[in-house]
Amino acid sequence: MRKQIVAFGRELPESLVDSLQNEFEVTVIFQPKLEKAAFAKAIQNAHGLIGAGVKLEPELLDAARRLEIISSVSVGYDNYDLEYLNRRGILLTNTPDVLTETTADMAFALVMATARRVVELAEYIKEGRWQQNIDRSLFGTDVHGKRLGIIGYGRIGQAIARRGHFGFDMQIAYWNRRPKAEAETLKARFCHLDELLREADFLCVTVPLTAETDHLIGSREFALMQPNAIFINIARGRVVDEKALISALRHGQIRAAGLDVFEREPLAADSPLLTMSNVVVTPHIGSATQETRRAMAELAVKNLSAGLRGERPADLVNPSVWESSRQGFASQKL
Ligand code: DGY
Repeated sequence: MRKQIVAFGRELPESLVDSLQNEFEVTVIFQPKLEKAAFAKAIQNAHGLIGAGVKLEPELLDAARRLEIISSVSVGYDNYDLEYLNRRGILLTNTPDVLTETTADMAFALVMATARRVVELAEYIKEGRWQQNIDRSLFGTDVHGKRLGIIGYGRIGQAIARRGHFGFDMQIAYWNRRPKAEAETLKARFCHLDELLREADFLCVTVPLTAETDHLIGSREFALMQPNAIFINIARGRVVDEKALISALRHGQIRAAGLDVFEREPLAADSPLLTMSNVVVTPHIGSATQETRRAMAELAVKNLSAGLRGERPADLVNPSVWESSRQGFASQKL
């Protein structure tokens, strides 16, 4: 009997669904808002799931008793309860590397847009307000030569640092769990988070969302920043206390913010962030280019197919599950 797959949450290119169909039985459920009960029913016979953007709570996955692997079409895996998956022996894979440069490009788009007030001034023209030369009240601030502080120095943080160093002659400093040897080529300085917050002109958040980074940046941290600081979040909304961010913007504790992620997504239409001219918001598009989303989907399909065939997927988030399934396999053979 062919193994069953459910593709959910994020549309997969048709050719990839077709390639999966050659080997597995695939059910596609891309409705943006599927009821929990309907989702639980749809996955009850699934051996594999592939998708992104849906929080797969244990209660939901309890319905899927045959589940062997979840292939997330994302690098972040905060939508999954790792302890639960490990306990049940379910493999989890993600899509690192292929989105690194694209996400760093987006971080820099937010740096440029906030510093040079691109969105605000584009609106200014569209509203017919460009009647004479603009005065200094609409001037932006330079990016080149400034201090770029990176919170989290993983693949994406380093790619942002490269852009800052090579493209804009910026001085790079970063905070990370451990110093990174790679930082030396960019003369990037490892420092304490508070020091970084105090000194940087631009702060980019790139840490994954974990129990330790949940609300890592709150009112205490905003109070440490310079009034001219520009704050960019390209990681996960929950890393930042959004109320504290709104208050910091309202009270001029920071100059501006560029935000691709929010505590609740989609962002509510009545969010105060939408009324602030010094805030640039985008709808979680860090990796959303044609090329990169295609590459992520391809990688996720590869990971899923390998797992379902009993081969080791390349991008395992929980390799211990794989190791113990292999040990079980070996002892069965003895
Ligand atoms: C990721 O891959 O985690 C990005 O946030 C896109 O979902």
